Amino acid sequence: MSHIIRIEGSSTAVDAEPGDTVLDALLMAGVGFSYSCQAGNCGTCRCELVSGDILELEYSEHALSAEDRARGVVLACRAQVWGDVTVRRLDDEEFVVHPSRILDCRVTAVEKATHDIWRVRLDIRTGGPYAFSAGQYASVEFPFARGKARDYSMANAPFEPGIEFHVREMSGGAVSSGLGEKLAVGDAVRVSGPFGSAHLREKHFGPVIAVAGGSGLAPIRAILVALDQLLDERPVHVYVGARTEADVYCEDEIRGLARLHPDWHVHWVLSHGEPDPGRARRTGLVTDAIAQDFTTFEGFKAYVAGPPAMVGAASELLQARGLPLRDLHADAFYPADRKASAPSEEVSIP
Ligand SMILES: Cc1cc2nc3c(=O)[nH]c(=O)nc-3n(C[C@H](O)[C@H](O)[C@H](O)COP(=O)(O)OP(=O)(O)OC[C@H]3O[C@@H](n4cnc5c(N)ncnc54)[C@H](O)[C@@H]3O)c2cc1C
Ligand code: FES
Repeated sequence: MSHIIRIEGSSTAVDAEPGDTVLDALLMAGVGFSYSCQAGNCGTCRCELVSGDILELEYSEHALSAEDRARGVVLACRAQVWGDVTVRRLDDEEFVVHPSRILDCRVTAVEKATHDIWRVRLDIRTGGPYAFSAGQYASVEFPFARGKARDYSMANAPFEPGIEFHVREMSGGAVSSGLGEKLAVGDAVRVSGPFGSAHLREKHFGPVIAVAGGSGLAPIRAILVALDQLLDERPVHVYVGARTEADVYCEDEIRGLARLHPDWHVHWVLSHGEPDPGRARRTGLVTDAIAQDFTTFEGFKAYVAGPPAMVGAASELLQARGLPLRDLHADAFYPADRKASAPSEEVSIP
């Protein structure tokens, strides 16, 4: 017997099979709902459980605080439906929906950005127009790895032509490893999207902190290019973590943008090795540099992207210094094989 999921304050009512997650059922029915990792890691799909029977699957403590949990907030991607359910959106104001598209694209450039990061540029041949918000990602299928779609963040702002991805080679990775030898100009690439909610909130006029690690600079670049075009100025603090000088890329471009704005501040932080002579860089962990510079993040919006460990550490620090979870927009680059979870706790709200 199927159940019904309702969204309070709207006429939305969709069918769900027992065991579906709230998020899966809403997306299957074409209802727009904020989400990103679909694995209980990012907190983007938080919503209030108004009534109904759910079984909560395992989730990360960074995605849902104990306080939120105690006041009935759940993760839609972790909430399995075992009866009729009503949920309430938490962030109606920030809710953006772009139509999901399947695009046939062609590679126009594959450029080496560092020893292990490739900048891949695509032209859209069919399936467009492609509307997205700066900071979102897409599911990408390269011709040499059919059936192995992987998520990559758009590195370009929506108003820049084509699509750009920054792909970091993972050793042994089915898709990313050796990408530069496997992909050539003219190759056909299938792109589905956009996805994710770690996108720029243009209507937030307070200060911004943007934190990137490795190829996490892709969505952060998109957000910075989009911020640069907004008419109203706000303080912007950019922290990019790289292992060594050899892992630094996109620097001239980002510093060039920062020079156009009196209150933009850019820091590259090397975790291993020393900066090249003449380069004013900090060393150590990017999170330590942030901790040295700020005592509070009240009133900020934070955008964080990159390896899960760095995103987790940065998210913890930002929240410990007063950033509410609703103002934290993070994409951890989890590998495709980390999207499975096991049941943990049963919840019922009459
Ligand atoms: C929302 C989102 C956005 C992303 N955006 C980007 C992006 O813009 N640029 C980018 O380079 N990547 C991005 N990723 C990661 C990307 O989707 C792939 O996971 C990555 O390219 C590895 O794919 P693969 O097929 O080469 O490796 P797989 O064959 O899937 O994995 C090979 C091995 O490497 C391990 N592994 C894979 N990725 C990681 C990792 N990040 N950390 C630790 N171990 C890992 C796997 O566990 C496995 O053991 C994103 C991921 C998500 C979820
Ligand atoms: S926690 Fe649900 S989408 Fe990330």
